Amino acid sequence: MLQNQKVVIIGGSSGIGLETAEQAIAKGAEVVIASRSGEKLRKAVEQLGSRASWFTLDTTQELEVQAFFEKVGAFDHLVVTAAETSGGPFLQTDTVQVRKLFDNKFWGQYYAAKYGAPNISANGSITLFSGVVAYKAMVGSSALGAVNAAVSNLGQTLALELAPIRVNVVSPGIIDTPSRSKMPEASRNQFYETVAGKLPVKRVGQAEDVAQAVFYLLQNTFVTGTVLHVEGGHILA
Ligand SMILES: NC(=O)c1ccc[n+]([C@@H]2O[C@H](COP(=O)([O-])OP(=O)(O)OC[C@H]3O[C@@H](n4cnc5c(N)ncnc54)[C@H](OP(=O)(O)O)[C@@H]3O)[C@@H](O)[C@H]2O)c1
Repeated sequence: MLQNQKVVIIGGSSGIGLETAEQAIAKGAEVVIASRSGEKLRKAVEQLGSRASWFTLDTTQELEVQAFFEKVGAFDHLVVTAAETSGGPFLQTDTVQVRKLFDNKFWGQYYAAKYGAPNISANGSITLFSGVVAYKAMVGSSALGAVNAAVSNLGQTLALELAPIRVNVVSPGIIDTPSRSKMPEASRNQFYETVAGKLPVKRVGQAEDVAQAVFYLLQNTFVTGTVLHVEGGHILA
């Protein structure tokens, strides 16, 4: 249980972060969510109720991240699900897009860990987010695979440097979240069906599958420096 614990979820206005926020509150925590869009955050907090509060934050902006943690003060667990990802064929992809991806998913999590850690209680934790393309090479994912691999490695080294705070990484597979809301519905469903057909578990993941993994990492005080794969056997498929 997370009674009397404060959990900060950057990226908590959508998908895995929002599901994690909802379950953290159900387990007794007080939750702070942050992301760029005030509108998304307001909607999320309406859903989450009075034990949730919110701040707008763009994790690509180092000074904003620093100021955010000054406002939040002391807390117990940091979960960073914030990311906007992109892909494309290596030779045709503009390097500006690749740099944006690193700014968002790698540097965003780097800043969050750097400025969040001093405010985290000694028995607290940090959970970062990698992804399956770091572990199974996929055409069109050269940059995202590299970002995810960098995040996994960062998490493992931070588990040593930030101890006794525990630092872990979740590596999701294909999860049905609003992250693919810009894809036309028919192609999205087709994509999910194709992926599900290849996986040993015969389905894509749901946000609650990943939130469960986050709580294992938050609550098991013997686990640090681990990369927890929640991907339905995707690496083997
Ligand atoms: N879904 C999948 O299939 C999948 C697969 C592998 C890995 N993952 C990883 O799992 C994590 C969560 O993904 P998800 O599917 O839950 O995504 P999601 O539903 O799109 O949620 C992402 C959240 O990040 C926030 N965000 C994006 N850029 C931000 C920034 N610069 N600063 C602050 N907040 C930012 C978004 O809100 P705003 O727009 O308001 O900023 C949103 O709340 C990500 O790291 C993702 O790469 C997901």
